[in-house]
Amino acid sequence: MPDAKSKPAFNRKNPLLAKRKTSLLLTEGCNSKDTWHLEISLQGSGMEFTPGDSLAVLPQNNPQQVDELIAALGCTGQEAVPTPAKEEASLRKALTENYVITTPDKKLLKAITEQCDGTEWQHLLEAEKKAELNDYLWGREIIDLLLAHPTASFQPAEFVTLLKKLNVRLYSVASSLAHHPDEVHLTVAVVEYESFGRKRQGVCSSWLAERIDDNTQIPCFITPGKGFRLPAPDDHTPIIMCGPGTGIAPFRAFIEERKATNAKGDAWLFFGEIHESTCYFYNEEWESRLADGTLSKITTAWSRDQEEKVYIQHKMLEHGAEFWEWLEKGAIFYVCGDAQRMAPDVDKALHTLIQHHGDKSEEESIAYVKEMVSEKRYRRDVY
Ligand SMILES: Cc1cc2nc3c(=O)[nH]c(=O)nc-3n(C[C@H](O)[C@H](O)[C@H](O)COP(=O)(O)OP(=O)(O)OC[C@H]3O[C@@H](n4cnc5c(N)ncnc54)[C@H](O)[C@@H]3O)c2cc1C
Ligand SMILES: NC(=O)c1ccc[n+]([C@@H]2O[C@H](COP(=O)([O-])OP(=O)(O)OC[C@H]3O[C@@H](n4cnc5c(N)ncnc54)[C@H](OP(=O)(O)O)[C@@H]3O)[C@@H](O)[C@H]2O)c1
Repeated sequence: MPDAKSKPAFNRKNPLLAKRKTSLLLTEGCNSKDTWHLEISLQGSGMEFTPGDSLAVLPQNNPQQVDELIAALGCTGQEAVPTPAKEEASLRKALTENYVITTPDKKLLKAITEQCDGTEWQHLLEAEKKAELNDYLWGREIIDLLLAHPTASFQPAEFVTLLKKLNVRLYSVASSLAHHPDEVHLTVAVVEYESFGRKRQGVCSSWLAERIDDNTQIPCFITPGKGFRLPAPDDHTPIIMCGPGTGIAPFRAFIEERKATNAKGDAWLFFGEIHESTCYFYNEEWESRLADGTLSKITTAWSRDQEEKVYIQHKMLEHGAEFWEWLEKGAIFYVCGDAQRMAPDVDKALHTLIQHHGDKSEEESIAYVKEMVSEKRYRRDVY
């Protein structure tokens, strides 16, 4: 395993140009979401990582969106423009690889407003209206603003200076180098939604899932997981892993690592998704790990297999007495996945079960969880 403090060979300025080996749809037959398992080759690169780390990926924009933008600007795509690195590239290449062409920057909003008699957002440009501006922009992309204001006209080299630099997206590593040398696996959910009459897709998730092939170079590097780490293999501390949806990714890496290192200590996995029949990610692997004792227990919650929603926090409460026993044995509780809804609800359930099964007041449960945090026994990697 790499020394956690050793300097990584690849970084933002010097990414590894990796290639995909395999991809597999994990949600075959599910109409509500596309989540993919990706295997990326690290052969010959020497790139190393530890379960709990993330892979930072620099994506490319959707070529159809690039075409639309070039047409809206009245350009050919061949025009020379500056890149954020102060190099020169064609407008098409720069819009594909270097700039954010979905979410507008305030500079662009101001520039359109200056050219047009009135824009819907001009009263939202003051600093104190930031939240209202964000609400207005929710679901709107640059192309919507340009098409709604055809009188706004930009020289291509000026236009790109009004855009933000395209940045990396992080994906939890879903494999262990001890189990899959020279590879990194990811679990990627395609962000997809409709707004203002258009189908939209997340830039990086759709690039990885739908637009790359086995020859595409994927610029990437490892970012270390801050404290999202397993206990040493000979440590008997039990672990509880809570990873609904793509939150399962780091726990697949954890479980592979524990199998490869013959780790001691019990391990309990909570997984939740929409339907058991179409979204039980990696279920055959869990069966094998239960059979060989790497996993002690798996508890699942299928949110849409019945009328009422069932989420992992409901299962935590259902198994509250046992959960409490594990906590009292010093278990580390890991949570990964959705930050907005899941993580706060799981946190609430944790407090509730501590009160109920630990016979504690609300204040005492808060103190108990604070102590878990300070002892690094409650670790979250949520997004
Ligand atoms: C540490 C870490 C680990 C992560 N691990 C994983 C992982 O293992 N797997 C995984 O799939 N993801 C993971 N993510 C999330 C991932 O980094 C990306 O944020 C995600 O894939 C979306 O990126 P994108 O480029 O596809 O979407 P973007 O192009 O960035 O689009 C997302 C944006 O679209 C907008 N949007 C989304 N839904 C709607 C809607 N309904 N209406 C209007 N606007 C909307 C929002 O502005 C949102 O911010 C992780 C994030 C972090 C920080
Ligand atoms: N907009 C998109 O298309 C899109 C796509 C991918 C990811 N994302 C975002 O990326 C993050 C992770 O997404 P993901 O695909 O990994 O899975 P996810 O959306 O977090 O869903 C995984 C499971 O968690 C359930 N869930 C929903 N709310 C919950 C809550 N409050 N507590 C516990 N479980 C809850 C979901 O149920 P239900 O869905 O049945 O409620 C589903 O069964 C989320 O922030 C998500 O919003 C968005």
